Amino acid sequence: MADQQISKPDCRILGIESSCDETAAAVVENGRAILSNVVASQVDLHAQYGGVFPEVASRQHILAIYPIIEQALREAHLNLSDLDGIAVTRGPGLPGSLVVGINAAKGLAIGSGLPLIGVNHLEGHLYSAWLYKANGEADIPAEPEFPLLALIVSGGHTELVLMRDHLTYEHLGATLDDAAGEAFDKVARLLGLPYPGGPAIQKVVLAGGDPSGTQFPRAWLEGTWNFSFSGLKTAVLRVVRDMEELGAEIPVADFAASFQEAVVEVLVVKTLQAAKKFEAKAILVAGGVSANKALREAFMTRSPLPVHIPPISLCTDNAAMIAGLGCFRFWTGQRDSLDMDVLPNWPLSEI
Ligand code: KG4
Ligand code: ZN
Repeated sequence: MADQQISKPDCRILGIESSCDETAAAVVENGRAILSNVVASQVDLHAQYGGVFPEVASRQHILAIYPIIEQALREAHLNLSDLDGIAVTRGPGLPGSLVVGINAAKGLAIGSGLPLIGVNHLEGHLYSAWLYKANGEADIPAEPEFPLLALIVSGGHTELVLMRDHLTYEHLGATLDDAAGEAFDKVARLLGLPYPGGPAIQKVVLAGGDPSGTQFPRAWLEGTWNFSFSGLKTAVLRVVRDMEELGAEIPVADFAASFQEAVVEVLVVKTLQAAKKFEAKAILVAGGVSANKALREAFMTRSPLPVHIPPISLCTDNAAMIAGLGCFRFWTGQRDSLDMDVLPNWPLSEI
């Protein structure tokens, strides 16, 4: 989509997100300005299971979705009749969770006559980098420049993508096994830390983790833009088992720090190499793991190019990114039919 070729009438889109364990609704104006952004997290509910329990997630979405949508409209001081469309996550995600969001969106579309726009959750993460809070104190952030080298690091995905323009993606690489967030979650569990693992690992590291004692392996997968984190996870498992067999106390914070350092190094080095190779003008990092302080700092200090990372509240799942992307899709003329179904395994490469 060449930016200058399409007209961009003012548009306000309601976004609905329910792909995993966050029920969220938001209103975004013209693809960038957040008028409201409401997220109901189920994290506390799933923590007792050590991960997301799909049936529980689905039931919780049903209870939360309409109150959350009403709150998003109320906080934006708008009615449905003030909007131009309803964007909703079609996938990827948990089928039973996606269905709740998509059915809510269809119900509202039928009742209001507004167009329905089904969007990809991973693409939504990318568009979180265009958002800013309307009427906020801070200046409006600059838009990322194309060609843009984007790294998506979430609980289910780790992808390197080249964007030469809006809504166009060249898929460079992805994880061959665990996603970066999944590795954080699994290693946290090995270390006896709570779910979700990313924030838990970050917390113990910041409280005093020393990475210098143990060096965990980095899978560089030279000659490809792919990643692999399962070997790293197994390496942590092995040292934890060794210490347990010796009856020694596990240095949780130090192991967590070494693990985090290994993940950050591979993500940053490979992304910067790809940016150089494809002559990108900027770097974009998005998805839950981009909330990680060490990762953010490493990109900021080591990148010769401008780095766009959304504020922490927009890194993890939210509906503002779905509404923002929905505006860009609205401008291309995308309108989906009311028999649109969920796509639980929808890869970014098939958009
Ligand atoms: O994007 P997201 O909210 O949901 C998915 O689409 O998967 O990402 C969730 C993932 C979880 O694996 C979580 O542990 C990780 O993001 N995460 C973090 C941090 N905050 C969330 N990982 C590392 N450091 C963090 N601060
Ligand atoms: Zn996500």
